[in-house]
Amino acid sequence: MKKLLLVGLLPFMAALAQASDPAVDQHYAKTCALCHATGAANAPKTGVASDWAPRLQKGMDTLVQSVQNGLNAMPPKGMCMNCSADDFKALIEYMSAAQ
Ligand code: HEC
Repeated sequence: MKKLLLVGLLPFMAALAQASDPAVDQHYAKTCALCHATGAANAPKTGVASDWAPRLQKGMDTLVQSVQNGLNAMPPKGMCMNCSADDFKALIEYMSAAQ
């Protein structure tokens, strides 16, 4: 009985672990996640704080600019053509937080 309850709770707990803002969630899943979920081409990995620490030291404004202009293997706007600077900031905060 206990086991059943736990299995039933898992999808709910997984949903809680995602970003709380549905717009950010959607942008992330369609764009940034393609590279940052797996760390493809040396992209700093989502949820791995040590990957992000040296990036965060550059300051949030610089990071938002890196996304807007593209950086090495990352295409301009990180493929999110309708993302605003605020969206990028929220996405960076989401990805750089330990999960
Ligand atoms: C096609 C793959 C790809 C996609 C899509 C992508 N990125 Fe990246 N991203 C990278 C790679 C690769 C790097 C590492 C670049 C480097 O330092 O050489 C990177 C680095 C970054 C950095 C660090 C920049 C810096 O100045 O150190 C930020 C911030 C970032 N990505 C945010 C995003 C956001 C936000 C999105 C979604 C809107 C996104 N990325 C989508 C591949 C991607």
